Amino acid sequence: MSKAASDMPQSAETKIPAELPAPLTSTNTSPRFSANEVTVIFVLGGPGSGKGTQSAKLVKDYGFSHLSAGDLLRAEQDRKGSQYGDLIRNNIREGIIVPMEITVTLLSNAMAAILEKQKDDEKVQSTSRFLIDGFPRKMDQAVYFEETVCLSAATLFLSCPEDVMLNRLLKRGETSGRDDDNIESIKKRFRVFEETSMPVVNHYEKMGKVMSVSAVGTEAEVTARIQKEIESRGILPIKGN
Ligand code: ADP
Ligand code: C5P
Ligand code: MG
Repeated sequence: MSKAASDMPQSAETKIPAELPAPLTSTNTSPRFSANEVTVIFVLGGPGSGKGTQSAKLVKDYGFSHLSAGDLLRAEQDRKGSQYGDLIRNNIREGIIVPMEITVTLLSNAMAAILEKQKDDEKVQSTSRFLIDGFPRKMDQAVYFEETVCLSAATLFLSCPEDVMLNRLLKRGETSGRDDDNIESIKKRFRVFEETSMPVVNHYEKMGKVMSVSAVGTEAEVTARIQKEIESRGILPIKGN
């Protein structure tokens, strides 16, 4: 186990990811990144609500860095030699949440890599704004991330009825190659979303940190709603910066 990994707290139910690249710093007494320098916006919504689609648009329009927790997990699952491959594959197929230490470490290291790469870039401001899509899916992820990685500025919540999400996911499943875009997995994911992820949205809602947007309608309609919401909150500085 790496030093950085051994410094990280462990939950009762799982060991921390020993093989993942170590974080660049690991004091654990304060978040790795300051919320004064790094803006984190979580993007939540049920499976198929359009988190990935809308995040990509915001990247294009505003120069956010986009990190999808699910994509990072799938990459770790496929990484040769990862001892977490089978665990991740199984959890994703079953629609259940992967142990938080794995996901938070992947996100933290991905953020560090982006910031490191961009630190000499004059447009560093645009790269220090992160959209973290599909995260936090469970309260323990939210708490652990904000304690050890960075406080979030806001949560964008894409509200979408299950029948709309189901249609989108079944269509996506025709070409996605994803193990979980099938009716059995989708039903499980809907249940986990309601029982485990909605409490996270409600938690941030109570803090006044949620921007809630209807995800029904065309992609462009949803994007327009998001832009209106996000700009009215003054979260984004200058468009295209
Ligand atoms: P999520 O990341 O929330 O699971 P995606 O962004 O992958 O959702 O979108 C799920 C599927 O629905 C994709 O195939 C995407 O192309 C499609 N999609 C996204 N937004 C819309 C929309 N507003 N109308 C119709 N289809 C959409
Ligand atoms: O966001 P996405 O639909 O790509 O997530 C796919 C799966 O990855 C989830 O159903 C879950 O099994 C896992 N996941 C997780 N924790 C996250 C994000 C995704 O366990 N924060
Ligand atoms: Mg997605």
